Amino acid sequence: MDENHQTFDDVAEVYDATRSLKPEVMEQVLDVLVEQLPSEEPILDIGCGTGRFLVPLQGRGYDVYGIDISEEMMAKAKQKGVRNVCYGDALDIPHPDGKFHTAMSVHLMHLIGNWKGMLKEICRTTREQYLSVVKGPKFPPYMDIYAEEARARGHPEVVMGILENQLSERIEPAKVILVDHMVEHFDTAEKLKLTRDKKLSVTWHVPDEVNTDIADSLEKTFPDKEIIWEYDLSIMVWNVADIRAWLEKN
Ligand SMILES: C[S@@+](CC[C@H](N)C(=O)[O-])C[C@H]1O[C@@H](n2cnc3c(N)ncnc32)[C@H](O)[C@@H]1O
Repeated sequence: MDENHQTFDDVAEVYDATRSLKPEVMEQVLDVLVEQLPSEEPILDIGCGTGRFLVPLQGRGYDVYGIDISEEMMAKAKQKGVRNVCYGDALDIPHPDGKFHTAMSVHLMHLIGNWKGMLKEICRTTREQYLSVVKGPKFPPYMDIYAEEARARGHPEVVMGILENQLSERIEPAKVILVDHMVEHFDTAEKLKLTRDKKLSVTWHVPDEVNTDIADSLEKTFPDKEIIWEYDLSIMVWNVADIRAWLEKN
């Protein structure tokens, strides 16, 4: 397990309000997602959080299971009626070999330094495919801006693992399905508040006083800054067999 789990407990209260896709975009994502999921087969959402995907998939009749290491995030999922959610680490998935047809994770792999260990667990528990809903190909601009400020202050590592999107640079996905091309205007005031409150994962590996210094610096430049992020919102699907073959060589 990595050392981030405590911090997501602190984020649970604001997670849905600050990280969700707009409802109409989420509907688009779900319409594409369900085309990739056979209706009779069990599906695992690793790092399911507040149930952003479990809730609508369960609602559409899927046999979905979630694991997470944050009790507070999972409590939100349970409040929303998610049935099969339990404490579990991506590096030690508490389910038997070959139980799932599909495993998915969204916005998780960048938190896991040992992301290859997570892939091994996916290969152990999952028969057919692993998928993710990704934004790419570039890094989210706010992460970049923050990382640059942290680097300048002697803290080069603010992201532990890789984005799910970046897995495609190592293992060829079986499918990449474009949901939509998006143009997002960042709410810089909101990002700044989340930064000060250390509710963004990029802030967790930086000492408090350095984080405050970065927030002070961004506060000076942000009023004139419009951060626009243009990205492809896609669903990437990998065959478990391809992941297994890659792990054998890497
Ligand atoms: C950014 S949130 C994403 C939540 C959800 N997948 C979504 O897209 O809304 C990351 C989640 O992964 C969980 N997490 C972090 N490290 C984990 C690990 N090693 N095993 C399982 N879950 C983990 C966190 O507790 C958090 O709920």
